[in-house]
Amino acid sequence: MGKQVISIDKNKRELEEAPSDNLKIVMDATDLQFLDETFGTAASFYTLMYMDSETKQKTINEVYRVLKPGGNFLIWGSEIPGEKPNDKVEFYVVPLQVKLPKKEIGTGYGVKFIFQDKKMITEMCKKAGFELHLKSEKDSMFYFEFIKK
Ligand SMILES: C[S@@+](CC[C@H](N)C(=O)[O-])C[C@H]1O[C@@H](n2cnc3c(N)ncnc32)[C@H](O)[C@@H]1O
Repeated sequence: MGKQVISIDKNKRELEEAPSDNLKIVMDATDLQFLDETFGTAASFYTLMYMDSETKQKTINEVYRVLKPGGNFLIWGSEIPGEKPNDKVEFYVVPLQVKLPKKEIGTGYGVKFIFQDKKMITEMCKKAGFELHLKSEKDSMFYFEFIKK
């Protein structure tokens, strides 16, 4: 969606490093500085896995608030185990190969062992008021589309 997008992250450096030239604002997802019913679509790309349960629910509630009725919430993510396999391991790494219309990006995200699964994310979204519209799953990876009723 190019320049129509507003990207947010609580970490300024993440936004500075992002190559796109759309509007970027340093903001905490649990306290969005947008009016109610502002956007038609919101997207979360491998970000809920960095949040504990309380933070995830607050974020999802905030996304619900800033979406227009009928708006979509798109979530890409991965299930994360809650326990380390042993003491030598600090991070769980999610390797990704992202196919975009004109290029392919290989990357990987390292996260702490903060448990999340598909059921948890789905229930949190339903609790906020969302309805599940579409889901696509492969192994531990998932893509969900929720709609604000
Ligand atoms: C690894 S990145 C995911 C990829 C990124 N969304 C992208 O599209 O390139 C996860 C990001 O979530 C951000 N994050 C975690 N908790 C957040 C919060 N409460 N509010 C805003 N951003 C948050 C982190 O700062 C980190 O940059």
